[in-house]
Amino acid sequence: MPADDSFPSPSYNYAVVRQFTLMTLFWGVVGMAMGVVIAAQLVWPELNLGLPWTSFGRIRPIHTNLVIFAFGGGALFATSFYVVQRTSRARLVSDGLARFVFWGWQAAIVAMLISYPLGYTTSKEYAEMEWPIALWITLVWIAYAYLFFGTIARRTVSHIYVGNWFYGAFIVVTAMVHIVNHIATPVSWLKSYPVYSGATDAMIQWWYGHSVVGFILSVGFLGMMYYFVPKQAERPIYSYRLSIVHFWAIISLYIWAGPHHLHYTALPDWAQTLGMVMSVILLAPSWGGMINGMMTLSGAWHKLRDDPILRFLVVSLAFYGMSTFEGPMMAVKTVNSLSHYTDWTVGHVHAGALGWVAMISIGTLYHMIPRLWGRERMYSSRLISAHFWLATIGTVLYIASMWVNGITQGLMWRAVNQDGTLTYSFVEALEASHPGLMIRLFGGAIFASGMLLMVWNSWRTVRAGQVNPLPLALEARA
Ligand code: HEM
Ligand code: HEM
Repeated sequence: MPADDSFPSPSYNYAVVRQFTLMTLFWGVVGMAMGVVIAAQLVWPELNLGLPWTSFGRIRPIHTNLVIFAFGGGALFATSFYVVQRTSRARLVSDGLARFVFWGWQAAIVAMLISYPLGYTTSKEYAEMEWPIALWITLVWIAYAYLFFGTIARRTVSHIYVGNWFYGAFIVVTAMVHIVNHIATPVSWLKSYPVYSGATDAMIQWWYGHSVVGFILSVGFLGMMYYFVPKQAERPIYSYRLSIVHFWAIISLYIWAGPHHLHYTALPDWAQTLGMVMSVILLAPSWGGMINGMMTLSGAWHKLRDDPILRFLVVSLAFYGMSTFEGPMMAVKTVNSLSHYTDWTVGHVHAGALGWVAMISIGTLYHMIPRLWGRERMYSSRLISAHFWLATIGTVLYIASMWVNGITQGLMWRAVNQDGTLTYSFVEALEASHPGLMIRLFGGAIFASGMLLMVWNSWRTVRAGQVNPLPLALEARA
C-alpha cells in the first residue's frame, strides 16, 4: 500500500486539489449533459434548432473536449497533486504556480467553450483548439510538469511510488504529442494551417489522437488506480514487480498504435500493419495492469458487499479490461473493415470513457472528498450505491446499443446483390439504427443523472457540520 500517513496532512497544498475536485464535478455534469444533447440530436435532428452554433458538428467537439480535458483532465490534476504530495511526503513546490495551473486550465476550457460554437476550429479531433489556445495550454502544462516533477525532486522518502511513474509518463508524453500536433502557421488570430499535409498530417494527428487515448485516458488513470485501489481496499498492491513491467511495457507500446485509426487509407501499408501488430500486443500489458488492480482485492472481496466506492473502482477495472480486449480486436484490419465509421467505434469509446475513465474518477472523488474537507465520510453511502447502479446500467445500455447498431450498419453497408449493386440504401441503415440511438440516449441520460446525485452528495458532505476542524484551522498555511 502506498505509505503516506505519517506526514501531517495539513502541510500539503490541498487547496488546489479541492479546486480541481469541484471543477471536475462541474465540468463532468456540463460535458455529459452536452453528450445527452448530441445523443438527442441524433434521434431528433430538429434539436439542431436550425442554428449554426447549436448544430451537432459544433456541439460534438464541445462534448469531447469537456469530458476529456475538463472532466478527465480535472480528475487527473486533482489526483496527481494529491498523490504526488502524499507519496513524496512533500508539499507542492509552489503555491503560486499551483494557482496559475488551476486558473490557466479553466481559462483554456472556457476559451474552447466560446470558440467552438462560433465555428473557430482546426477540425482535428481532440485538437480542435486554435493556435492561441494551444499555445496557452503548452504554458500551463509546462508549469504543471514543473510542479509535479519538482515535488518529486524534493520528496522526503527515497522511493518514487509507482503511481507517480504513470502520472509522470502521462505528463511528458501529452506535452510531446500536443506540441508536435499543433505546430501550425497562423494566418490570423483565429485561423492557422498545419505545417503537415496529406497522409503525414493524418498520421501526426492520429499519433496524437491515440496518445490522448493511451496517455491521458489510460496511463494517467492507471496512475490513479495504483494509488486509490489499494487505499480504498486497504490492501497492498497485488504485485509491485508486475506494476514495473506493466509501466515499461505500456509506455513503450502505446505510442506505436496510432495507425490503427487509418486502416485502408493513403497511409503506407507497412505503417498500418505496424499499428495493427502493436495494438494487438498492447492487450498483454493492459490486462497485466487490470489483473494487478483486480488481484489487489484478494482476501478483501467481501468488502464489495458494503463499500460502494470500492464497487466503482472494481467495476471500472472490469470495463478497462473489456475495452482493452475490444480495442486490439478492432485494430485487426479485417475487423476494422466492418467496425470503422460505424457506431461500434462509439460503443468502444464509451466502454472506455464511461465504464473506465468516468467510473474510476467517480470512485476516486468519493474517496478523496471527505478527506479533503476533513469529514469522516461522504454524506450518504446509499446515494453512492444508487449512483453506482445508475452508472453501471447507463454504461451497459449505451455500449450494448452501439454494438448492435455498429454491426448492423457495417453488415448493411457492405451487403451487395448478385449484380453487384448495394442491397440497402444509406437511409435504410439509418432507419435500422433508430432504436439503438434511442436506447443510447436513454442509457446516457441515466448515467448523467447519476452525476447529479453525486453533486448533491458532495455538496452535503462539504457543507456538513465540522467533523474535524484541524485541516481548516491550518488551511491558512496552505
Ligand atoms: C452521459 C454521458 C455521455 C453521453 C450521453 C455521451 C454521448 C456521446 C455522443 C452522442 C457522441 C457522438 C457520437 C457520434 O458521433 O455518433 C459522443 C462522442 C464521444 N464521447 Fe461521449 N457521451 C457521454 C460521456 C462521455 C465521457 C465521460 C467521455 C470521456 C471521458 C466521452 C467521450 C467521447 C468521445 C471521445 C467521443 C468521440 C467518439 C468517436 O469519435 O468515435 N463521452 N458521446
Ligand atoms: C489496448 C487498448 C486499445 C486499443 C488497441 C484500441 C484500439 C482502438 C481502435 C482499433 C479504434 C478504432 C479506430 C477506427 O476504426 O477509427 C479505437 C478507437 C477509439 N478508442 Fe480505443 N483502443 C484501446 C483502448 C481504449 C481505451 C481504454 C479507451 C478509453 C477511453 C479508448 C478510446 C478510444 C477512442 C476515444 C477512440 C475513437 C477515436 C476516434 O475515432 O475519434 N480506447 N480504439
